Amino acid sequence: MALQEFLQELDQLVTEAKSSFSDAADMDALEASRIEFLGAKNGRLKSAQKMMGGIDKPDKPEAGKTFNATKQAIEAAFEEASERLASGGGGDVDSTFDASLPGSAFRIGRLHPITQTIEELKDIMGRLGFSVADGPEIEDIRHNFEALNIPNEHPARDPLDNFYLATAGLGDDVLPQWLMRSQTSTVQIRVMETTPPPVRIISLGRVYRPDTADATHYPMFHQMEGLWIDENVTMSDLKTVLRLFATSYLGGDVSIRFRPSFFPFTEPSVEADYYWNDQWIEFGGAGMVDPNVLKEVGYDPEEVTGFAFGLGVERLCMRRHGVTDIREFYKNDVRFLEQF
Ligand code: DAH
Repeated sequence: MALQEFLQELDQLVTEAKSSFSDAADMDALEASRIEFLGAKNGRLKSAQKMMGGIDKPDKPEAGKTFNATKQAIEAAFEEASERLASGGGGDVDSTFDASLPGSAFRIGRLHPITQTIEELKDIMGRLGFSVADGPEIEDIRHNFEALNIPNEHPARDPLDNFYLATAGLGDDVLPQWLMRSQTSTVQIRVMETTPPPVRIISLGRVYRPDTADATHYPMFHQMEGLWIDENVTMSDLKTVLRLFATSYLGGDVSIRFRPSFFPFTEPSVEADYYWNDQWIEFGGAGMVDPNVLKEVGYDPEEVTGFAFGLGVERLCMRRHGVTDIREFYKNDVRFLEQF
């Protein structure tokens, strides 16, 4: 047999074996290919080896050398294919699998800025001895108005200023009995109804008012309500608590001032402002709990007194972080939310 012909035969064998091994989609297919090419009895490599007997003597060294190289190449191709299948790579599709590529990263969430603010406010007020109380967002008119000394004819009860729940089918003269609470002052009543004095609580949560959304209004927002009832609690305690609170939340020594105001559930009532970054900023409403409210919950106004206050949570958070539009909190735009 001519040397040239033999070398061509070996060359062909390598090409065919490589493509057969790399096409193998599973271990069974690969084993069949192995037997075809590398089988010890009738494998094609074995047949090629037999052909060497017919090569002219002077050409034998070269034929032997090439045969050895061919054998190594085919065995290497087999090893490669079996490693591919062992590591989970199947046919063509999986041959693109690269186990060394980094995996896809999970995005780690974070708390909403208002939730973060609420947690911080609880923390600060907790250090001042206030515990946290909770109340329902769907309220009855007794807790939202009546027990808070807000009688039926009071303008705060106007249907245009409240989200009353439907009274359909009850008749025109039936007053709505339920609403989405318009203030967290409701929780004052719920706590005093069920707890004898003294009480020192805050309550943080959502309130609802049918305001058109703009930079400073939103139909749902959060308030922090505070209530401290005990013997001899005075307005100066109120001022001290608000000042310590503002100092902790905003940092630095923050002053507080009171302006006379009116709320049905406090007497006297004030609007509290704090002085920060060279200006007076509205804090919220406050005052000494009206004796009518104390009586309503079964407390004796001759025995105990107390103060209450209500602050907007969004407003505090906006000041602290320089947010100028309340609507940003509720767009769920991660580019905004990610900054907190
Ligand atoms: N509830 C009032 C509001 O929503 C805020 C408020 C004022 C709460 C005076 C109080 C208070 O506890 O004493 O505007």
